[in-house]
Amino acid sequence: MAQPRILILGAPGAGKGTQSAKITEEFDVNHITTGDALRANKDMDISDMDTEYDTPREYMDQGELVPDEVVNAIVDEALNQADGFVLDGYPRNLEQAKELEDMTDLDVALYLDVSEEELIHRLTGRRMDPETGDIYHVEYNPPEDPEVEERLEQRDDDTEETVKERLRVFRENTEPVIEYYEDEGVLERVEGEQAPDEVWEDVKTTIEDAA
Ligand code: AP5
Repeated sequence: MAQPRILILGAPGAGKGTQSAKITEEFDVNHITTGDALRANKDMDISDMDTEYDTPREYMDQGELVPDEVVNAIVDEALNQADGFVLDGYPRNLEQAKELEDMTDLDVALYLDVSEEELIHRLTGRRMDPETGDIYHVEYNPPEDPEVEERLEQRDDDTEETVKERLRVFRENTEPVIEYYEDEGVLERVEGEQAPDEVWEDVKTTIEDAA
């Protein structure tokens, strides 16, 4: 099978990062994630792009979208270096979806469907290991090693107030993107509110059927 070109869509906390890690390993594709790329470059100077703020940090810490111009450039460069990929966190609005159409074809767009109540619970309980980048949850998926537990950090935008704003931004900007891919006939819905391994079984089968 040629390396698949996969889009993973879902609200903040739907499990895109968790499932992308498994997809990367199973299908030997690149994980392209705009969220991680922006977090690694939070303080880059974007003032020459005629943006409201001078760095991505201001947008991200408030739960707002970073301007398209910045994000499009990140994705374009990453796609140029990948044969197969799982693209996570992009596109987040219709303008980005149109931009992506000019950059690459897709085999499948997965949508992880999760209720808002569950999303808030997942995000406010999420913790990251700064040394490995592994994702945990204080209740659903705590680390076994006490040393790892000790060093876990909470993401700056996982506070309840910012999570609510991220969900509002998702409803306003990204839900139309889901309809767009549905109309294009490439959208596959996955029940994202099951246990991670059950979600993974459905994700894996859906990719195998589509690629
Ligand atoms: P980004 O990093 O993309 O964040 P997000 O879309 O808000 O998604 P998350 O990473 O929060 O959640 P996830 O779906 O990956 O869930 P996870 O697997 O971690 O974007 C951050 C910011 O960057 C944006 O707000 C914006 O400012 C900017 N940005 C990024 N892309 C942009 C773009 N294209 N344009 C403009 N701006 C952009 O899981 C969450 C938790 O739940 C974890 O604790 C996990 O352990 C747990 N969990 C996962 N699956 C399950 C399960 N099945 N059952 C129980 N718990 C589970």
